[in-house]
Amino acid sequence: MNENIIIQLEDVRKSYGRQEVLKGINLSIVEGKTTLIVGASGQGKSQIIKHILGLVKPDSGKVLVYGKEINKVSKRELKEIRTNFGVLFQNAALFDSMTVYDNVALPLRERTKKSEDEIARIVSEKLALMDIEGSDDKYPAQLSGGMRKRVGLARALVLNPKIIFFDEPTTGLDVAKSNEIYRVFSRTQARLGYTSVIVSHDVPKIFKLADYVALLHNGAIQDCLTPEKFQLSDDPVIKEFVETTMGPLYSSEMEV
Ligand SMILES: Nc1ncnc2c1ncn2[C@@H]1O[C@H](COP(=O)(O)OP(=O)(O)OP(=O)(O)O)[C@@H](O)[C@H]1O
Ligand SMILES: [Mg+2]
Repeated sequence: MNENIIIQLEDVRKSYGRQEVLKGINLSIVEGKTTLIVGASGQGKSQIIKHILGLVKPDSGKVLVYGKEINKVSKRELKEIRTNFGVLFQNAALFDSMTVYDNVALPLRERTKKSEDEIARIVSEKLALMDIEGSDDKYPAQLSGGMRKRVGLARALVLNPKIIFFDEPTTGLDVAKSNEIYRVFSRTQARLGYTSVIVSHDVPKIFKLADYVALLHNGAIQDCLTPEKFQLSDDPVIKEFVETTMGPLYSSEMEV
């Protein structure tokens, strides 16, 4: 197989006090593909993303990004590696004291030397992509949850990252809006060819986007399979997950 692994977790363990959250995670992320991480609430999905970003240090094990151990690189190298990343945190993590425009413009101002004219062009293009034009001057507190999510997405994509991490990109969005976001993902991924790591509860729908699905259960990755193989798996844990989350077709639409 001609697959280039750009992120690798090797036996990653992490505890908080007496709670063992990650109990030996092994996971490979393939370049240009979409890997979906699924699993019940509190299993440690967001923790995996935070480990890859170098925001959390494992107690043991390795997190390799482009072959480099993310916790052992210098500050400068870490900054350099992070220029490849676009991140949407679960809570969107917008700066409350900044307008929508300034939130989306921030990575361009901090990490590029683009002129304000150029920045304005890129920001309005991304806001249009997310269908939130006209909200430039609003502050996060004046937006709905779904709008905040879309501003977060616009900001995550603003530097055309090589690797994107989306933690629950569609929570709080209605079905139509979620589908639109998925279309944006497919379109931009086809155009830019980025690698994506997505954590999502929106299981039946998001399966269409995924190249690989990894189920996190009891602190370990149960298996990382193509969506087809995942759905047909004989593994009892995967089987149960598929049956409970994908059984009734309407389940994802009922999610609040
Ligand atoms: N800083 C921390 N201190 C103590 N415990 C933590 C910390 N961060 C995470 N945890 C614990 O680690 C576990 C996994 O958390 P995580 O946020 O990764 O879950 P998740 O799978 O993303 O859940 P959800 O689907 O609800 O977002 C939880 O039990 C959480 O309480
Ligand atoms: Mg989470």
